Amino acid sequence: MKNNLAKLSSLVLLAGLLSLYACEKFLPNEPEENEVLDGPMEGLSYAQTRLFLEGDEAFSEVFTPEKGLGAYFVTSSCFSCHSGDGKGHPSTTLTRFGRWENGQFDPLTHLGGGQLQNRAIAGFEAEVIPSEANGIAKFTPPAVTGLGLLAAVTDATLLDVADPDDMDGNGISGRVNYIEPPDFFSPLEWNIPDEEGRYIGRFGKKAAAIDLLHQTVNAYNQDMGITSDFDMNDPINYAVSSQQTDLIPDPEISAATGQSVVFYLRTLKAPIPRDESDANVQLGKQLFMDIDCGKCHIPTLKTGISDITVLSEVEFHPYTDLLLHNMGEELNDNYTEGLAEAAEWRTPPLWGLGLSPDAQGGEFFLMHDGRATSIEEAILLHGGEASNSRTYYQELSTSDKEALISFLKSL
Ligand code: HEC
Ligand code: HEC
Repeated sequence: MKNNLAKLSSLVLLAGLLSLYACEKFLPNEPEENEVLDGPMEGLSYAQTRLFLEGDEAFSEVFTPEKGLGAYFVTSSCFSCHSGDGKGHPSTTLTRFGRWENGQFDPLTHLGGGQLQNRAIAGFEAEVIPSEANGIAKFTPPAVTGLGLLAAVTDATLLDVADPDDMDGNGISGRVNYIEPPDFFSPLEWNIPDEEGRYIGRFGKKAAAIDLLHQTVNAYNQDMGITSDFDMNDPINYAVSSQQTDLIPDPEISAATGQSVVFYLRTLKAPIPRDESDANVQLGKQLFMDIDCGKCHIPTLKTGISDITVLSEVEFHPYTDLLLHNMGEELNDNYTEGLAEAAEWRTPPLWGLGLSPDAQGGEFFLMHDGRATSIEEAILLHGGEASNSRTYYQELSTSDKEALISFLKSL
């Protein structure tokens, strides 16, 4: 009976939520579909929409100490950093650290690295960066839209786009990161490990997460101190050995909750461009390709076969190659993950770029740590493999620069 009641109430809730989505379309002054980032992909079945809504709720869940938050954490819900599914504000930045010694990077796991938990629940002392750390990077939250498509691009495609030895001699040599898989990782048919059993990373600014479950489990654990069937160990503040962690029984969320969030991330719609037919935007797109921006921010990728029909064998336009590029010394924070060098960063998708300020308090905070407060500043920070492209940009006329930037804002 209780079970049936619970089922009934969740159906009522579902109907309510669905009608909310439906109503949105009829409200006056409601933003157009291409002006907001959140919402499901078009073409999901009823059952898939239901799973999407469940995942949306889990993504918005606020954790309290009673629900297992902490003891050491950064903040209390996915949504507080990825608000509206858009980019985060510098106030929600994560800090990661480690130590370089003799050319080797040590994430200082035994001292609470690689990620700082800068807050703690009552009765516990928050972590501070240990004095051993000599490499520290700040990461602003990226948007989480369209990730299902990026997750469905096969490893073979990424290896095909990669040009680690710059065979085509254009100064741009994207390569994949290889990551030690966690115990819970289950490869898809198309995953291609290297000889050492490592898998290609594609999420995160250093491409250190192999798939969306990997990223999600780490986020629950490292950002909120929430254990799951996938990772049963709460973060610990090693500097205070007398304090272990919270007393809430592990796992603090079920495997089903973790999977539900992954389903939500997989089926969030991709950002929809605006003003595509505007002549200035079209000129900007042409310039973008002419000055080699599109060599890393490649406009079109195609997914492989997927268990979700709307993700299966589709072309889409993320403006990324998901590969690592050396971006020069100005962007080198002396910090790294996996096989990436400290100056290497994964090309971020540019879709949704024009909508970033909506989630960032009306301003732009671009590049991995949000240090660029305009698109132009972001372009001028491009060094290393992108130096030529930056020079070409600097040589454009003022009106061409403006066209390029209108194109970027239309994404
Ligand atoms: C404290 C802020 C914060 C919280 C809380 C947080 N994230 Fe993130 N998220 C980030 C940052 C910063 C990154 C970039 C991390 C990196 O590059 O390794 C990120 C990256 C991601 C990515 C990868 C996106 C991409 O394009 O590569 C996904 C997916 C994601 N987060 C999902 C989640 C989920 C799910 C939760 C909740 C379980 C969550 N995040 C909680 C800040 C946060
Ligand atoms: C060699 C590869 C490469 C080329 C060429 C390149 N980019 Fe990038 N771009 C990147 C990488 C990698 C980052 C992320 C750097 C970071 O996070 O610090 C980036 C970041 C950006 C960002 C900020 C995105 C964000 O979400 O913060 C913008 C905007 C951008 N690029 C536009 C351009 C434009 C315009 C051009 C051509 C003038 C260009 N890029 C050329 C690799 C490249």
